[in-house]
Amino acid sequence: MKLAFFDTKSYDIPGFDRYAIPAGVEVKYFEPNLDEDTVSLAAGFDAVCVFVNDTVSEAVVNALYELGVKVILLRCAGFNNVDIRACQGKLRVFRVPAYSPHAVAEHAMALLLTINRRIHKAYIRTREFNFSLQGLAGFDLYGKTVGIIGTGKIGRVFADICKGFGMKVLAYDKFPSPGLDYVELPELFERSDIISLHCPLTEETHHMIGADSIARMKKGVTIINTSRGALVDTEALINGIKEKKVGAACLDVYEEEGEVFYEDFSGHIVQDDKLVRLIAMPNVIVTSHQAFLTTEALDNIAATSVDNLVRFRNGTPNEATEVLYQK
Ligand code: NAI
Repeated sequence: MKLAFFDTKSYDIPGFDRYAIPAGVEVKYFEPNLDEDTVSLAAGFDAVCVFVNDTVSEAVVNALYELGVKVILLRCAGFNNVDIRACQGKLRVFRVPAYSPHAVAEHAMALLLTINRRIHKAYIRTREFNFSLQGLAGFDLYGKTVGIIGTGKIGRVFADICKGFGMKVLAYDKFPSPGLDYVELPELFERSDIISLHCPLTEETHHMIGADSIARMKKGVTIINTSRGALVDTEALINGIKEKKVGAACLDVYEEEGEVFYEDFSGHIVQDDKLVRLIAMPNVIVTSHQAFLTTEALDNIAATSVDNLVRFRNGTPNEATEVLYQK
């Protein structure tokens, strides 16, 4: 079997090398993202391995199918970037449902601590020998209410971390499970000092944080998004921050991140005005979809992806990691 690995970064390869691609499987690493312009690179391959910002649209699925590709290996949990319906009867799709919920939940807390205690400001100040504390006041997390939307693997770990800080945890999930204090979404918006998103991006959750939900929130609320960018209507968020309704935002993901994240634009004029506006705000932190980026997570991603490929090749595909179309 031949595997075409798209959107390759230097940190991807060690994990895959460690899990030694099995005999009979040949891998070629491609730097570009998979999309309509690059899909022809998959000619002659049986499988493609893709990540969060590869665009596996219907057109790309059809092109892959015509090129003879049989399987898509997502080396991530979310699959909103793959047209699963279009894959039906043409390509099998496998993902890595869990590689380290701790990595993402810990990053969400790192962002919250950073924005709240102004660590991003303090770091720059002391490097310039500016020891003033002006404007660096935060608030105690202890006793505050955090609203967690999506209480699956990551949301649960984040809830435990927050409880460790002495915070009150409110939860909302389409499918609640025992052990948490669940409320309806409007109540979560109204009562939370901090809101953290841990649900998947679907038609239903698209822009769940928008003008209406922000209007319901407490003045000064902190919003954390480590899930998927389009859960948040960026324009509504910017307006909420300008109106001082939203006190702070921590964004590891961004609606239009596919255009910029994972690339070095430090020598360029970034054309995305909304992103530039967000980054210019002192109470916003943007990280480049890096919540997953721990050694443990990278090793688990490689192990599961290789296992998905081997089991597919051996005719014993892993039902637990296969992504099937659901109407
Ligand atoms: P999970 O599948 O374990 O949990 C998702 C939860 O969301 C489930 O409890 C589900 O019932 C709930 N949910 C589904 N539809 C909902 C809705 N309409 N409203 C509210 N809740 C709903 O997934 P996991 O592993 O906890 O990941 C959560 C999300 O985190 C993923 O969908 C992915 O987008 C994102 N993620 C981000 C990473 C990063 O590096 N920033 C890395 C890994 C995942």
